[in-house]
Amino acid sequence: MNNALGEIAVIGLGYIGLPTAIMFANSGYRVIGYEIREDVVEKINSGKAHIVEPEIDELLSKAVKSGNLRATSNPEEIVGKDVYIICVQTPLRKDNAPDMTYLESAVRTVARVMKRDSLVVIESTVPPMTTIKMARLIEELTGFKAGTDFHMVHAPERVMPGRIFKELVYNSRIFGGITPESAERAEKLYRAFVKGQTFKTSSTVSEVVKLMENTFRDVNIALANEFAFLAHQYGINVFEAIELANTHPRVRIHVPSIGVGGHCLPKDPHLLVWPAKEDFGLIKLARDINDSMPLFTKDLLFSALNELNVQPEDAVIAVLGLTYKGDSDDTRNSPALKFIEAIGEDVKEVRTYDPYVAGTSKSPEEAVEGADAVIIATDHSTFRSLDWERLGSLMRTRILVDGKHVIRTPPRGFLFKGVGRGEY
Ligand SMILES: NC(=O)c1ccc[n+]([C@@H]2O[C@H](COP(=O)([O-])OP(=O)(O)OC[C@H]3O[C@@H](n4cnc5c(N)ncnc54)[C@H](O)[C@@H]3O)[C@@H](O)[C@H]2O)c1
Repeated sequence: MNNALGEIAVIGLGYIGLPTAIMFANSGYRVIGYEIREDVVEKINSGKAHIVEPEIDELLSKAVKSGNLRATSNPEEIVGKDVYIICVQTPLRKDNAPDMTYLESAVRTVARVMKRDSLVVIESTVPPMTTIKMARLIEELTGFKAGTDFHMVHAPERVMPGRIFKELVYNSRIFGGITPESAERAEKLYRAFVKGQTFKTSSTVSEVVKLMENTFRDVNIALANEFAFLAHQYGINVFEAIELANTHPRVRIHVPSIGVGGHCLPKDPHLLVWPAKEDFGLIKLARDINDSMPLFTKDLLFSALNELNVQPEDAVIAVLGLTYKGDSDDTRNSPALKFIEAIGEDVKEVRTYDPYVAGTSKSPEEAVEGADAVIIATDHSTFRSLDWERLGSLMRTRILVDGKHVIRTPPRGFLFKGVGRGEY
């Protein structure tokens, strides 16, 4: 425990806040995590993580045992800290407008407990100009002047679930201050564990940078998905075409699939354009294309049922994989779930199997027994070595639809369709 380094309060202990709190605590800072969910607080204080992530249990237990990390739901316990790091969720509402209620409530809590000279860091992904607005809110609530009486920074997080503890250390980081001094203070703080490059800029540039990164990926995935539609028109395998196009030294085409999911990619393009005064066609169109992919996959399934004269209302469908990403337990905004929602009313029965999700079939065999079609909706590694001869022998009708390019050579005896696989 090293008081000289200063005390940090991390607000919101989810996928981002908890690992960040652990990193600071294990670098010698006294860290207190403030979290509204009491079940999460209790679990963390007992040294156990409530999220799945490699290394997290050992690192959390070390941080708690050292006395450097503790969690609380009581705002009294975060009064007068040197640093507040806000890591709450910033989801979309049903109308795709940003839901800023979590962030605003966290900022109001911080305004109630902070002291003169505190540094307030927003790690959450936010619409452009939010940090400045939140600084104004703190000024109103405290009477402090931003930039002189307190400092404020947007420090976006770029980690990928599954690699969080490596990427927290080795990724480069951006510190967007409401003043250059704010950015400087944050950069110095994060040097406690960041070994990647660090850059200082304004808070609005930093907010835009984070959102541009995910929008870049979303738009490029939409282009790849549109190439997949074309492949069906021309009777070719889009993955073969992409592989060949990517041998060009300046081309890097992304990967088409059943859709885009997770907490970030589907929402960040909306956050980027939300405060702007005009409509932005390309970004919005890309979102629409990516959102349509579960329906495109449904069309592939229904055309296969039609080819084999299976009436949809009699069909039993087995969906393999529910998470948005292979080898993960995260189902947030998963295209597999959107696909199930899209076919739910039209077919007789939908069964699911996902080794990472509770409440699904116990095995692929159990899910496919008597089924008319199997859909691969997630690229879990174990799906690459399924015994299709055996699975096929259990099915009533042998239809296989691949939404994640898991199957390279379609198994014999199946009617095969895949997103981007126009050659069959
Ligand atoms: N998950 C990722 O991979 C990732 C990557 C980069 C950036 N981000 C961004 O980081 C932010 C956090 O994402 P996450 O995945 O960690 O979210 P999360 O939902 O896992 O965690 C947020 C936590 O904050 C708590 N919380 C909400 N309001 C609170 C309040 N007022 N006071 C205290 N606690 C509160 C919630 O109970 C929850 O435990 C989001 O803006 C996200 O876009 C996430």
